[in-house]
Amino acid sequence: MHELSMKVVEIAQSGGPEALQISERSIPEIKSGEVLIQVAAAGLNRADIMQRNGKYPPPPGASDILGLEVSGTVAAVADDVTNLTVGDQVCALLAGGGYAQYCTAPASSCLPIPGRLDWISAAAVPETFFTVWTNVFMRGQLKRGESVLIHGGSSGIGTTAIQLAGAFGAEVFATAGSREKCDACLQLGARHAINYRKQDFVEEIREQTNGRGVDVILDIIAGSYLPRNIKCLAMEGRMVIIATQGGYRTDLNVLPIMIKRLTVTGSTLRARTAEQKAEIARELLQHAWPLLEDGTVSPIVDSVFSMQDVRKAHRRLDSGAHVGKVILKMDA
Ligand SMILES: NC(=O)c1ccc[n+]([C@@H]2O[C@H](COP(=O)([O-])OP(=O)(O)OC[C@H]3O[C@@H](n4cnc5c(N)ncnc54)[C@H](OP(=O)(O)O)[C@@H]3O)[C@@H](O)[C@H]2O)c1
Repeated sequence: MHELSMKVVEIAQSGGPEALQISERSIPEIKSGEVLIQVAAAGLNRADIMQRNGKYPPPPGASDILGLEVSGTVAAVADDVTNLTVGDQVCALLAGGGYAQYCTAPASSCLPIPGRLDWISAAAVPETFFTVWTNVFMRGQLKRGESVLIHGGSSGIGTTAIQLAGAFGAEVFATAGSREKCDACLQLGARHAINYRKQDFVEEIREQTNGRGVDVILDIIAGSYLPRNIKCLAMEGRMVIIATQGGYRTDLNVLPIMIKRLTVTGSTLRARTAEQKAEIARELLQHAWPLLEDGTVSPIVDSVFSMQDVRKAHRRLDSGAHVGKVILKMDA
């Protein structure tokens, strides 16, 4: 390989996993506030599938290469970066560019690798921890002693949300699409897991909470789930929408929102400013990193694929059979 070039995964043309191919590109140049990372591993996300399908263009200024999170070694730092030096081992949240041997990242979106984690596990951390922290704890204001319903409990996001909510003293309910996935949610600390294909989660939550409902819902479905979520919320409850797998629209009776004084909110992470991401990173370092350090919470890795097997990795995510994160290991 030429010294200044690197192997990347490119989208040849929008479509299925076969759209992905390995090619060569120049190693990206760092801008002010950024570091260059030699990537050890990259986490896969549902957003990568949407981008591969041509339905989720990268935000302005972001790399067109897939990949929202990596682990690796800092290979260069911009002159104005003071908190990192060459050789530091980090995991980083990216706006794109992670499926490559090198990527750039804002220094403020890099976090030290928690002591116990290897490269693979560290690559499984950033996207889910940033997303869960900013939505469940910052927006949703989940507190010790409260209860939370996490939809898609066996997803990358769900497995982190169950563990973090439990670690901070909340009672956790989760939905998932099979008995095996429900069992995985229970093992991660959920008090009750609901197989949404066989059970009505509104009925289950009503029964499990003696009619009170839950304080917070992390929703990845939207659409027809919205009125059902509202039925599940307790007085002063908060619903945080982070994806719309069930569609953008629904017919909603707003009266319960007023009567129960509910808060309906949501967010996307990728398009947030570097400063907003830095604020989340600071909170994670303070509140979540000690739990990763002592093993109270751990990223759940479903499977690991080599760079050459990126199509297989995407097929695994497409299949929906995974529990936790699918990881891509980069060529050295
Ligand atoms: N807004 C943000 O900032 C942000 C950031 C990261 C991720 N996200 C979103 O969060 C979601 C999870 O992300 P991920 O990367 O962790 O994806 P993932 O691992 O692929 O998980 C998707 C999950 O959705 C579940 N699901 C599908 N239909 C469902 C239903 N009707 N009820 C309950 N669960 C259902 C699937 O479980 P079953 O197989 O059991 O159905 C699967 O576990 C994705 O939609 C992603 O786009 C949003």
